[in-house]
Amino acid sequence: MTARPLSLTVNGKQIVPINVPDDMMMQDFLHEYLNLTGSRMGCGEGVCHACTVILENPDGRLEEHRTCISAAHFFAGKSVKTIEGHAERDVSGKVVKLTDVQQAFMKHFAFQCGYCTPGFVTATTVLMDRLQRAPVARKDLERTITQALDPHLCRCTGYVRYYEAVREVILAAPGLVRG
Ligand code: FES
Ligand code: FES
Repeated sequence: MTARPLSLTVNGKQIVPINVPDDMMMQDFLHEYLNLTGSRMGCGEGVCHACTVILENPDGRLEEHRTCISAAHFFAGKSVKTIEGHAERDVSGKVVKLTDVQQAFMKHFAFQCGYCTPGFVTATTVLMDRLQRAPVARKDLERTITQALDPHLCRCTGYVRYYEAVREVILAAPGLVRG
């Protein structure tokens, strides 16, 4: 197995080059090399989306990526946000403020075991970023939410509360919905 240096930005921090095997998946790199274990290993084959992280494009657009089927080296030179990078933290690393999405999920008791929650937070954050650039008509909001969240599986089947929370947080944010 060959390894080569990998450098990228994770949660705003530049990671100095680390020798990483060519065939290592991003999920394993985050968990084993960076101790960022919040992205969940579910199916391990690209189906459940529990493992997603955000890729922050140079133009500011956010994209969801499954880390169980993406090589760590795919992210070379790129900027990634894991679930650990969403909430605001103080200098000691303690969470001091959740994002609006995280707060909405708490308020609605949207999750049960919570295993799928990092993926749902990721998907909703990416959706809201997209709607900031291209607001959706109110009549199309339900379909838009369904399309964005549909790939995310919840084994506890708590979909209704997730969807309620997402609808509320989108409607509360200015400029995401027209009409
Ligand atoms: S663990 Fe990656 S899609 Fe299921
Ligand atoms: S809350 Fe348990 S898998 Fe979704």
